[in-house]
Amino acid sequence: MKTASVWNPKGGQGKSMVAINLAAAAVELGLKPVVIDRDEQGTSMLYHQAGNLPFEVLPDYPRSAPNVDLVLVDHMANDRVVPRPPLLVMPVIPKRSQYAAYVEALKQAEDAGKRIITVVTNGDLRREQERAVVLAIKQRGAFEIRASGIFSRADNDYRTIYDPAINGAYGVRDRRHEFSAILASVLQNQQGKDLNHAEA
Ligand SMILES: Nc1ncnc2c1ncn2[C@@H]1O[C@H](COP(=O)(O)OP(=O)(O)OP(=O)(O)O)[C@@H](O)[C@H]1O
Ligand SMILES: [Mg+2]
Repeated sequence: MKTASVWNPKGGQGKSMVAINLAAAAVELGLKPVVIDRDEQGTSMLYHQAGNLPFEVLPDYPRSAPNVDLVLVDHMANDRVVPRPPLLVMPVIPKRSQYAAYVEALKQAEDAGKRIITVVTNGDLRREQERAVVLAIKQRGAFEIRASGIFSRADNDYRTIYDPAINGAYGVRDRRHEFSAILASVLQNQQGKDLNHAEA
């Protein structure tokens, strides 16, 4: 069983979006994932309650290890404690005003010896400043989930972008590819490999 915490103390960076769509990508691979919602009545639990998710969402860490292949922990905003799992997925919006919190949290996580997969979310590539940030983070091994209208469409009825109801939507195949690549990295990640320093 593999566990990854989806963490960034800054609110609205795409933690819940990444957690539930990575879980959906795992289902596509024939794996059994679970999402643990560390945000009381948080986003992933709302999705779960709507009934369209092909996996479980639990409100907290279960007492005994769940019978699953992959555990994804959806952390809440302002949770500043570096999560326990050795592997962290850190979503970040590439805006200057949002980025500082990520940089600080990343440093804390690195100091704690975590392996980190950074995922740039919702970047506005028409803005030169954001393009530059995206490029810089990606050069250090980060992934990107491009800004796309399918996320609000999926949000509207609490579906993941892997839901058959979203099939055929503009950009859905590309976004699914992006998630598959991140999932592969989560599943392959070996001890001691810090993806943010793949070049170092
Ligand atoms: N690549 C993207 N394109 C379009 N919308 C996106 C993208 N990534 C995230 N979003 C949207 O941004 C919003 C915030 O995302 P989400 O709720 O996952 O963030 P969060 O980090 O979990 O927030 P919180 O800290 O409040 O829990 C959601 O509406 C989500 O659909
Ligand atoms: Mg959330």
